[in-house]
Amino acid sequence: MLTGRTLPQTGSTNQQNYLFHLDNLSVEFGSTRALKSVQLTVYPGEILFLTGPSGAGKTTLLNVLGGLQEPTSGKAILPHQRSSKHFVSTVFQDLRLIQKKSCEDNLWMAYDGAVYDSKNDFYREMEDLCRLLQVTDHLSKKIEDCNGGLRQKVAMIRALLCRPTALLADEPTSSLDKENSYRLFEVLNHFNHKKGLTLIWATHNKELIKQFPGKIAHLDQGRLVYSGHACFI
Ligand SMILES: Nc1ncnc2c1ncn2[C@@H]1O[C@H](COP(=O)(O)OP(=O)(O)O)[C@@H](O)[C@H]1O
Ligand SMILES: [Mg+2]
Repeated sequence: MLTGRTLPQTGSTNQQNYLFHLDNLSVEFGSTRALKSVQLTVYPGEILFLTGPSGAGKTTLLNVLGGLQEPTSGKAILPHQRSSKHFVSTVFQDLRLIQKKSCEDNLWMAYDGAVYDSKNDFYREMEDLCRLLQVTDHLSKKIEDCNGGLRQKVAMIRALLCRPTALLADEPTSSLDKENSYRLFEVLNHFNHKKGLTLIWATHNKELIKQFPGKIAHLDQGRLVYSGHACFI
């Protein structure tokens, strides 16, 4: 179960081996400077928590990393520019699920015949993830009839089913209780350990950050004011 794309080796600190690299990057929206001269390097297999108060620039930074936001100045080197094998999945804050469709139909949106050997193969992986995150009993439910926590889990499973090199997530546990947040993170941790999945999360959940090994990039008014190990928060 939980097979994936061939992912790069983890743990390297070789300068050339990075997955994301932002160099003196700024983003402006009119007179608002959402990101100011951000310098950030993310290596394959890292877990990075983006923290900071509301309006600090977390979502803008995720959009830059996901290739959805062009910098106003500076440079962003992204995974697909490093290798055509890299693929980045994003779980947006608004989840982008299709409300009138069932959970299962939303999950099938991740199916790609070039990534999976067969539809059976995809279905098995979907079953595994749904079981681990306790979504199995709700698969036929329409998204509009699901609570916020269940929607977040479906969005996360859909992103994982794309077999990404890196997963970007914008406050993905905001509607989950403590137990479900941990369960979700355990699954992601498994992908990180076994597949070298790189995780970049914007989160306010300090308890979660403390429980799992990772780095922190702390933003304040668009500036990256701390970047380092999570044990120092
Ligand atoms: N599309 C946009 N247009 C104008 N201002 C924006 C836009 N996106 C973000 N901003 C502004 O940029 C700043 C950073 O926002 P954001 O990245 O959403 O922060 P966070 O996710 O940390 O709450 C805020 O001042 C926000 O109002
Ligand atoms: Mg945000």
